[in-house]
Amino acid sequence: MKGIILAGGAGSRLYPITISVSKQLLPVYDKPMIYYPLSVLMLAGIREILFITTPHDQAAFQKLLGDGSHVGCNFQYTIQEEPNGLAEAFTIGEEFIGNDKVALVLGDNIFYGNGFGSLLRSKVDVDGASVFAYPVRDPERYGVVEFDEDQKVKSIEEKPKIPKSKYAIPGLYFYDNKVVEYAKQVEPSARGEKEISTINQMYLEAGNLEVGVMTRGMSWFDTGTVESLDDATEFIRVLQNRQSTMIGCIEEVALVHKFITKVDFEKAIDRYGKSKYGEYLKNLQNES
Ligand code: G1P
Repeated sequence: MKGIILAGGAGSRLYPITISVSKQLLPVYDKPMIYYPLSVLMLAGIREILFITTPHDQAAFQKLLGDGSHVGCNFQYTIQEEPNGLAEAFTIGEEFIGNDKVALVLGDNIFYGNGFGSLLRSKVDVDGASVFAYPVRDPERYGVVEFDEDQKVKSIEEKPKIPKSKYAIPGLYFYDNKVVEYAKQVEPSARGEKEISTINQMYLEAGNLEVGVMTRGMSWFDTGTVESLDDATEFIRVLQNRQSTMIGCIEEVALVHKFITKVDFEKAIDRYGKSKYGEYLKNLQNES
């Protein structure tokens, strides 16, 4: 399975913060936001990853993440010229995806929870589509999934004014190769974007959509507004400082899942110097 991280968009809800800096490079506590969704794909065991950014932000992502070899991955970069919607990821990424299955994670979505790694690894051989549902207070901000009394998916709607349920669809999607053809058929919505919800509706109509409800133990943040960005930062700070383990640490994932050797790890962590992130990695090195 291949992976795509969509890190485009104007980030206008965070202006003036994101006028000159990509949203997905902003700090979420002690590391750039993009580390979190990247670690999610790596936890799923995905090592070939395409970053889709705006034209002007691409160089900054490349400076931060390089070709991925330091974490045992292959990173590629391409651009989305205009913020035309998430479904475009699969047409922009068509060549990269080739004949493979693909996972998409949004560059501003943060996940954390017990057993999340095994859940992810159970999705990489998906037939059809596999997405999640997460109960929220403000479903109208998201793609919303409605279930019938037998817990079967009844409908999917993008940002409905009157949501049919409290279940939002987080920005983490697993698809078989048909997604490329489906993506080509998506027409722009009223807000002018090619919606990922349209792709999910297509899979639903074909009887090939699986929706797993994320339970209480899972935490999901999207960081599109000042409040939600601040919430995510606070969450990561409190949890990391209490448990003394890091969330979204890509070198740790690479080491634990044997993408790299201990020698590679030593080389990879050099760049972080005396930062808190660097200190954590040095402690890991001493422990292992
Ligand atoms: C996008 C998707 C939406 C999904 C959300 C998750 O919304 O369109 O279906 O629930 O991401 O973060 P947007 O970020 O475009 O508002």
